[in-house]
Amino acid sequence: MDKWWKRSSFYEIYMPSFKDGNGDGIGDFAGITSKLDYLKELGIEGIWLTPFYPSPKVDNGYDISDYNGIDQDYGTMADFELFLQEAHKRGIRVIADLVLNHTSSEHPWFQESKSSKNHPKRDWYIWRDEPNNWESFFGGTAWEYDAETNQYYYHAFAKEQVDLNWANPEVKCAMFDVMKFWLEKGIDGFRLDVINFLKVHDRFEDNPTDGEQIHLYDKDQEGVLSVISEIAAFVHQYPDKFLVGEVGSEDLDILKQYSGLGKLDVVFNFNIGSIGEFDAGKLFEQLAATEQAYGSAQMPTLFFSSHDMSRYISRFGNEEDRAKLVAVLMLTAKGVPFIYYGDEIGMRDWVTDDIAKMKDVQGIMAYKFALEEGKSHDEALVMANKKSRDKSRTPMQWNLDAQAGFSEGLPWITVPEDAGKVTVEDQLNDPESMLSFYKSLLKLRKEHSSLQVGDYEFLRMEEDMIYFVRKDQVEKIIVALNFSDQPNLLEAGTDVRLLLSNKRTRLDRGNEINVLANEAIILKGEIGNDLVKKG
Ligand code: NOJ
Repeated sequence: MDKWWKRSSFYEIYMPSFKDGNGDGIGDFAGITSKLDYLKELGIEGIWLTPFYPSPKVDNGYDISDYNGIDQDYGTMADFELFLQEAHKRGIRVIADLVLNHTSSEHPWFQESKSSKNHPKRDWYIWRDEPNNWESFFGGTAWEYDAETNQYYYHAFAKEQVDLNWANPEVKCAMFDVMKFWLEKGIDGFRLDVINFLKVHDRFEDNPTDGEQIHLYDKDQEGVLSVISEIAAFVHQYPDKFLVGEVGSEDLDILKQYSGLGKLDVVFNFNIGSIGEFDAGKLFEQLAATEQAYGSAQMPTLFFSSHDMSRYISRFGNEEDRAKLVAVLMLTAKGVPFIYYGDEIGMRDWVTDDIAKMKDVQGIMAYKFALEEGKSHDEALVMANKKSRDKSRTPMQWNLDAQAGFSEGLPWITVPEDAGKVTVEDQLNDPESMLSFYKSLLKLRKEHSSLQVGDYEFLRMEEDMIYFVRKDQVEKIIVALNFSDQPNLLEAGTDVRLLLSNKRTRLDRGNEINVLANEAIILKGEIGNDLVKKG
């Protein structure tokens, strides 16, 4: 039997924004538990929770100050345990985001490390007498001076997120204890944050620059793959656990090294997920290259939004048909799908005209750097909005109050008026809604094993239409995704049957199907039917 995660559709929950259960304006475990039936009905089989551990939240939880607890904003350990139990009762597995690369500067380990050059934990972090030219991924130098001990410490992200020294075996042991703690609580796996950053260049050579810094020596360094194999071996001692890695790269040659036998189960395929425009050519190129690189030995992931990027509906022009078409691609092409909360109702990006309302450290830093470079307030705000990840982190729009930005008193302005009703309440009983479409799609995926684990019979693109056949021993599923604003003909044999489309409910046809502009169509064919080609 295939591993459960190969057959599952995941859903990312951004902790503070999904559902507030106690009325303090912040999402929490009680809230999420109350929405498990919603997720079950949607057809979700796995949940990825962004970090929920105690944290000063400089980078919204990706700065952990206690790896074995629950942040009080999100509830108590008992709330977490109840949530996990209730999720499992509904057949939903849960994976936790784990940040192994860095801790909060408030973590006791760092406080000890910082206390003196001779402290036994000094070497748990990366200290140097002189900085090199490495830049933080949030901008500015990656080195912070500590006057008391007259050395610099390294931080790949904010200065409050201090990089651990994975060259020190004690760090590894401490983190294995953390993983053990959560595995024994029954968590089903981990999403490993920036996992290709664990090792840095051992001689700290300067990064090359080419207008901007090229991050050559601060990630994907020698030794990182063997640490990852050790992590994978440790976690996989526990039966049925799943590891998905965030490998911060869009380069398929790099991504593919991190997953497969003895390594992570899958990694996030940013080569597909980060595509900026609604562009069949670019998408097809990456889908085909991934298929060629992975073959049947590795499984890609499919996602188009996350808490770190613009929502795909907004990236692709805020058009519902396009969003539905991309949802079809995400849930029928080969890969483990990760739906970002709110995408199932078509939630859109948020931008602010008030810098005081910005929460994301990356946006705030971009604003500060822009002002330092002499930009005006307006120019700096544009740059801040571009970098800020607040755009996709607004509260889940359960009802119209939330859509209007009144949700729980948070300073969000959400959906523009012309966007219509982008709320769960409004879409729940509307068969034409995005939510109903997602539900049908998830159900269809669950009912057809070839969509979960089937191989491609072929994967092609012509005239901006991507079309493919997935098959296993029992069935063939034909999918055509017309990215073009012109119709496109598809010849699919006479014995095919319509399973789903974002544009029609019936198939009136002979041999040829006129696939409409921006239509995504899913057909079922018999095993012997190989008559699928462009008309
Ligand atoms: C990746 C996370 O997804 C992002 O939100 C965070 O800022 C960085 N890692 C640093 O932990």
